[in-house]
Amino acid sequence: MATDALISSDLHNQAEEIHWEHEHLIDELADLDSAFDDIDFDSAPVPNLDGVDDANRIVRDLLAELPLHFVNEESTVLPAIASVNPALSAFSSEMARQHDEIWKALNVVAGELRHLSSSTDLAEDIVKVRAHVERLCRELAVHMKSEERMYTVLDEHKPELASA
Ligand SMILES: [Fe+2]
Ligand SMILES: [Fe+2]
Repeated sequence: MATDALISSDLHNQAEEIHWEHEHLIDELADLDSAFDDIDFDSAPVPNLDGVDDANRIVRDLLAELPLHFVNEESTVLPAIASVNPALSAFSSEMARQHDEIWKALNVVAGELRHLSSSTDLAEDIVKVRAHVERLCRELAVHMKSEERMYTVLDEHKPELASA
């Protein structure tokens, strides 16, 4: 039964759709990183804080997009992987656990960005939020890499995995 599920072209299409969602998320993470690079307290005549607005916009987009991406995975590819064998079931659970962690980390960043508008030490608070953004980006990048590796293996070795 697991083999049938794995061989279905639905799964291939779902994995491909998720792959494109990952590509989009990777672009957003790169934009988020460069938004912070654009912040310049030494620019004249006034500090250039456009990057803060850009970061806010990107984080708002991520708050809307990430839950949909996670639900998509948790209702398609991750259950398919989990059905193959116990080791892959553990992988699938670990990915779902990481979704919760990433979601919490994103909300921390969103809260810190909101707080910037009333900050009494903008430079220091931006350094703090940037550190959290960098950690979030790293966690999400590693997470997506694990998933991509698994989805590729799954797609290329369906029968072998199913009988493993
Ligand atoms: Fe995921
Ligand atoms: Fe993902």
